[in-house]
This record gives sequence, C-alpha cells and structure tokens, in this order.
Amino acid sequence: MAFVTRQFVRSVSSSSTASASAKKIIIKHVTVIGGGLMGAGIAQVAAATGHTVMLVDQTEDILAKSRKGIEESLRKVAKKKFAENPKAGDEFVEKTLNSISTSTDAASVVHSTDLVVEAIVENLKMKNELFKRLDKFASEHTIFASNTSSLHITDIANATTRQDRFAGLHFFNPVPMMKLVEVIKTPMTSQKTTESLIDFSKALGKHPVSCKVMHPRKTSTLR
Ligand SMILES: NC(=O)c1ccc[n+]([C@@H]2O[C@H](COP(=O)([O-])OP(=O)(O)OC[C@H]3O[C@@H](n4cnc5c(N)ncnc54)[C@H](O)[C@@H]3O)[C@@H](O)[C@H]2O)c1
Repeated sequence: MAFVTRQFVRSVSSSSTASASAKKIIIKHVTVIGGGLMGAGIAQVAAATGHTVMLVDQTEDILAKSRKGIEESLRKVAKKKFAENPKAGDEFVEKTLNSISTSTDAASVVHSTDLVVEAIVENLKMKNELFKRLDKFASEHTIFASNTSSLHITDIANATTRQDRFAGLHFFNPVPMMKLVEVIKTPMTSQKTTESLIDFSKALGKHPVSCKVMHPRKTSTLR
C-alpha cells in the first residue's frame, strides 16, 4: 500500500536528547492492535528488542496467521544474524515468539500496558471507536499511538480523554527492514509523550523523526 498523504511536517531537527526528561515513560509492555501487515511487523520488532508484546486482532484465525508470518520473518532474520550459530538463531526466534501474547479482546488486555499502537484498517470511525473504548480500560499512564498513514492524528486523539498522551507513530513497510519512524505530535501531545515515543523507537533500533500536525482539527467525528 502506498502512503502518500501527509497531514504533518517534519521538524527541522530529529529527536533531541538534550531535552530528555526524567518523567519519560520507559515503554516495556506494548499492545499492538491489528495483526495485519504493519501490526505484525511492529509486534515482531518490539518483541525482538526485548519488549513484552500483546498482539490483538479480531479473530483467532487472523492471529494464528499473523503469528505464523512473524515466525517466518524471524527465521529469515535469524538466518542472517546468526549465520555462524544456528542454535543461537533458533533461541532468538523462540525467545522472541515467547514474548508475544495474543488476544481478540483489546479492552481486557490494555489495563497495564505502557503503549497501545493501533494498526487497524484505515478508517477514522473504526479507529475512533476503538480508542474511545480503550480509553476507559487503559491505565492513566498508557500512551496511545496510531500508525495511520493518511488520517489526522488530532481527529483520532479527540476520541479520547488523553490527548496529551496521544501521538502518531508511523512505521514504514516492511517494518523489520525500514529504519524510519515518524513520531507525529498534535498541539495537545505532551513533550513527555513525544520523548517517550522517541526513546521507544530508538529501543526498536529505528531512527525516529519528530513531526507535527500541520492542520490540526479541533473536533472529533465521534461523540
Ligand atoms: N501497508 C502499509 O504500507 C502501511 C504503511 C504505513 C502505515 N500503514 C497504516 O497502518 C494501518 C494498518 O495497515 P495494514 O496495511 O497493516 O492493514 P492490514 O489490512 O494488513 O491489517 C489490518 C488488521 O487490522 C485488523 N482489524 C481491523 N479492525 C480491528 C479492530 N477493531 N480490532 C482489532 N483488529 C482489527 C484486521 O483484521 C487486520 O488484520 C493503517 O492505518 C495504514 O494506513 C500502512
């Protein structure tokens, strides 16, 4: 899928370590909603870099397919990374897969997660419904992020009561290969949230770039 629409501009500089805040959230547990092309890639990379991952999709069948895809992708990574030591490669695959749990009920698994990354279909109403519901079940500290390519982050954030803890986290396909991650802040996104997501992206081995929404909207389509 091509991602051509941009509702934001990149900042002049990329992430700033100088402004690092002691209050940043160290993201260890990640909930990825949507186990399709992008969500599976995000779950794989997060688990492979030592995070505990909960992967959520609509049915067990989709999740099984998603998990199989992740395993195949991990085996390819392991073959290259551990070319001289296949046993270590097998261990890497097993350990990474063991870090990924799955669920078909997002609301029941977000209570203690540090970050929710949404990668469901590109539909504002569906994304809003999802986040509005999760907002009631997630912990206060939990950051919400959308991987949307073309929707306004502000429009999605406004479905929640945590606009300060809401941002875009835009990965590129294929996620295990592509280094760039755009951290997209709205006018309401706190510095702490932005910095936490930049640190998380770096922990994934990615190159985060901080971006801001160009034409923020004030109202949500979901009431
Ligand atoms: N494909 C790309 O190249 C690309 C790149 C960057 C960003 N994106 C963005 O990432 C998001 C996902 O894209 P994709 O290509 O991975 O889509 P996809 O169709 O491959 O996967 C979407 C998954 O979401 C699941 N889903 C739908 N509604 C759900 C719900 N309410 N709860 C749980 N799971 C649900 C579907 O079953 C499906 O498995 C979109 O917002 C898209 O714009 C895509």
